[in-house]
Amino acid sequence: MFLAEGISSTAGDEIMPDATTDATPKNPLMTTADRERWDARYTGRSATVESEPPEWLVRHTTELPPGRALDLACGLGTTAIWLAERGWQVTAVDISPIGLETARTAADRRGVSVEWIAADLDDWAPALAAFDLVTVFRFLDRGTLPERIAATLRPGGRVLYETFLAPESDEWISHVRNPAFVLQPGELPRLFSGLRILDYDEAAVNGERMARLLAVKM
Ligand SMILES: C[S@@+](CC[C@H](N)C(=O)[O-])C[C@H]1O[C@@H](n2cnc3c(N)ncnc32)[C@H](O)[C@@H]1O
Repeated sequence: MFLAEGISSTAGDEIMPDATTDATPKNPLMTTADRERWDARYTGRSATVESEPPEWLVRHTTELPPGRALDLACGLGTTAIWLAERGWQVTAVDISPIGLETARTAADRRGVSVEWIAADLDDWAPALAAFDLVTVFRFLDRGTLPERIAATLRPGGRVLYETFLAPESDEWISHVRNPAFVLQPGELPRLFSGLRILDYDEAAVNGERMARLLAVKM
C-alpha cells in the first residue's frame, strides 16, 4: 500500500484480538476500490481547513478537558485539527492516503501535530480502553465498528457520532440515498446501546438530514 511520508499504516500493537473483527474478512479488492474512489475525490484539494468544525463537535467538547482523541474516517482533517488546536492528543484514521497527506500538510501549516493512520475501518481496531473521545462524522459502518469504538473508550470516555439519516420524503435535499450509507430513525442509539446516551437528535444540518449522538462509557 502507498503511504505518504508521516502517515503510518496499522501498527501491530494497535490491533485488538480477532474476537472483535468481522467473521468474514473484507474482500481486499473492495478496500482498494474504496481507497481509489476517495483518493480520486481528494486529489487536488487544497491543504487548508476548508470547512467549519461540526456544530455537534463544538457543542459537546468545548467543556471537556483535553485528553486522547480518535477521529475515524477523518477525511481532510477538519475535526482532528480542530481538536489538536484545543490541546487534544489526536489520532486520525482514514482509508485515503491522499486525504491524509492533505490533512497532514494542513495540520503542519497550523502548527499542530496529529497521528495520521491509513487503514480500512471495516477491520481496523484501536487498543482497548485507550481514548477519552472518539469522533465520527459522515461515515457509517454497521458491522463491528460500534463495539470497537466502545472497546477503545476509557471509562468515562465519550463518543460523538454524526452521520446521514434516511430521507423522510423527497423534500429533503440529499445526495446520500444508498441505504447502506444512511441511518434509519432511532438506529444510531441502538448501535451504541452498550453506552449511556447523553444526547441524541435527528436534525437538518447544512441541508442534510443527520442523526447525532453523544454517549459515554460507564
Ligand atoms: C463523507 S467523508 C467524511 C470525512 C470527514 N469525517 C468529514 O466529516 O469531513 C467519508 C470519509 O470516510 C473515508 N472512508 C470511506 N470508507 C472508509 C473505510 N472503509 N475505512 C476508512 N475510511 C473510510 C473516506 O476516505 C472519507 O474521508
